[in-house]
Amino acid sequence: MRVRAAVLEEFGQPLAVSELELAEPKAGEALVRLVACGVCHTDLYTASGADPSGYAPAVLGHEGAGVVERVGGGVTSLAPGDHVVTLFSPQCRECEHCRDERTNLCLAIRDQQGRGLLPDGTTRFSRDGEPIRHFMGTSTFAEYTVMPEIALAKIAREAPLDRACLFACGLSTGLGAAMNTANVQPGSTCVVFGAGMVGLGAVAGCRLQGADRIVCVDLSEERLELARGQGATDTLLGGADTVEQILELTGGFGADYTFEATGNVHVMRQAVESARMGWGLATVCGVAGKGETLDVIPRFLITGRRVAGSSFGGVKGRDQVPELVERWLAGEIDVDPFVSHKLTLDDVNRGFELMEAQDGIRSVIDFS
Ligand SMILES: NC(=O)c1ccc[n+]([C@@H]2O[C@H](COP(=O)([O-])OP(=O)(O)OC[C@H]3O[C@@H](n4cnc5c(N)ncnc54)[C@H](O)[C@@H]3O)[C@@H](O)[C@H]2O)c1
Ligand SMILES: [Zn+2]
Ligand SMILES: [Zn+2]
Repeated sequence: MRVRAAVLEEFGQPLAVSELELAEPKAGEALVRLVACGVCHTDLYTASGADPSGYAPAVLGHEGAGVVERVGGGVTSLAPGDHVVTLFSPQCRECEHCRDERTNLCLAIRDQQGRGLLPDGTTRFSRDGEPIRHFMGTSTFAEYTVMPEIALAKIAREAPLDRACLFACGLSTGLGAAMNTANVQPGSTCVVFGAGMVGLGAVAGCRLQGADRIVCVDLSEERLELARGQGATDTLLGGADTVEQILELTGGFGADYTFEATGNVHVMRQAVESARMGWGLATVCGVAGKGETLDVIPRFLITGRRVAGSSFGGVKGRDQVPELVERWLAGEIDVDPFVSHKLTLDDVNRGFELMEAQDGIRSVIDFS
């Protein structure tokens, strides 16, 4: 079939929306009609050429939600008509990591996915017979995409897809960092650095876990206001003395749990230093620039602080994304404030501009 898609033709250039051929799903794959897709930093990071593992031409996009149209042979967990959230972090349920509670990093299709190919080593997108590569195993800046069954989370039909798409990346990452990676305990004190999609999700996750006190730190008053809406009890404008301010707010000790959601290695260090001696846990969500390193004074670790990293919030996508969506539908998570702009696929580059200008939390492409 012919589909319109936003193609990264050349690094540093705007995406080009054009018509491509999309082949039918093969065994273990599904054809998905996209209904909505968020525009995320990782798309821009790759489009800009900053990502050393990037490749072109490729169809970008990874924060998608849509409807299954057709399935290939052997697909048992999905059927046409199912509503799905796309997973750049799949869950095969069989590999060593999927069978272990400690991680969500499925090993099943990692190598091919990293090369922009589907698990059989080929692409479904092409133009004039030339293959066009997939991105993050998702390629959701397209009217339709073909994805592995293990990378699609089936969600409740009642969930509006124009917001459900946020669970495909940023929102689940933040929620999961608090709920899975840190496993915040009721009554605890938390600090979240960054009030973008990921940080606001972490604030909501801390609240759902029953945290007593949630301090959110950002550079933008407007975003701190959104953090209060998600359950932050205290807010701070970030700066060089943030650690001192947090120590002051917490009786000199620091917080039980800290979360970094900025991508800035200096803020990561602040997150480590504002974690409590004895048991404070700093969870790093941000993606640092190429070659950057995190500076930690070992004494902070010897005196009981720990550092954890979190990819996609430790969320095992096929099992847990539907559960998070249920909590949203039950009124426990307020997703509406995160959708700041609705765009058409043709406006995808505008989504990047809005993101660079920090205008709103998420632009969502509406395919309907
Ligand atoms: N680990 C994962 O699986 C995963 C998934 C998605 C995104 N990410 C990463 O998470 C990070 C956050 O993503 P996002 O979409 O929320 O980004 P965002 O740009 O919308 O939000 C980042 C926020 O950090 C704030 N900030 C910047 N410098 C600060 C400082 N010194 N002190 C306090 N706040 C500061 C900014 O004002 C902004 O509000 C990015 O690095 C992104 O690449 C990671
Ligand atoms: Zn993302
Ligand atoms: Zn697996």
